[in-house]
Amino acid sequence: MIIMKKSIVIYNSRGGNTKKVAINIAEGLGAEVVSSRKIPDLQEYDLIVLGTWIIAGQLSPGGKKYFTDLENSKVKGKKAVMFISSSAPNDPPKGGNPDDPTIKDAAFEQMENILAEKGLEIAKERLAIKGAFRIFRFGSGAFEKGHPTEEELNEAKDFGASLKKLLK
Ligand SMILES: Cc1cc2nc3c(=O)[nH]c(=O)nc-3n(C[C@H](O)[C@H](O)[C@H](O)COP(=O)(O)O)c2cc1C
Repeated sequence: MIIMKKSIVIYNSRGGNTKKVAINIAEGLGAEVVSSRKIPDLQEYDLIVLGTWIIAGQLSPGGKKYFTDLENSKVKGKKAVMFISSSAPNDPPKGGNPDDPTIKDAAFEQMENILAEKGLEIAKERLAIKGAFRIFRFGSGAFEKGHPTEEELNEAKDFGASLKKLLK
C-alpha cells in the first residue's frame, strides 16, 4: 500500500491577499487550504505551510495567535514552511536605515522563533508576496494596488509545486 503524505496550507488574512497566496500555494502543492480560524487536527499532516500578513512591521495579531496556539504535541517534528503577504516586504520595518533587516526578514524571524518552540522543523523555503494595502477590508487598496498580481500568484503556485520535494 502506498501511504500518501499529507500537506495543509493555513492562512490568516484580513483583506484577502494572504488567502489568495495560500490558495495558489495549495494548488501548486496539491494541499488542503484553511483559514487560521478553522484549523483541523494537524496530527495527520506531514507538511504544514503557515502564512500571515503584516501590520506595522509585525505579524498580524491573528497570525501570531494561531502560531502560538499550535499544540506542540500535534506538530512536533513535522515540517513547516512560512509565507507572508505585506505591502512593502523589502523595506526596513521602520523605514530609514537600509542596513536594518527587511520587513520580510524580520517577520520570518518572528515566525521562526514561535514555530521552533513548537518543535516544528522549519524549511529554508519561504515566500513573501506583495499585497495591496487596504484601509478598509474592501476596495483595491490605498497603495500597491493590484497586488498580488497574476504573476505573483503564479509565483505562489510554482512555490507550492516546489514544496512537493519536502514530502518525499
Ligand atoms: C493597518 C495596516 C498596517 C499595515 N502595516 C504594514 C507594514 O508595516 N508593512 C507592510 O509591509 N505592510 C503593512 N500592511 C499591509 C498588509 O500587510 C498587506 O496589505 C497584506 O497583503 C494584507 O493581507 P490580507 O489582505 O491577507 O489581510 C498594513 C496593512 C494594514 C491594514
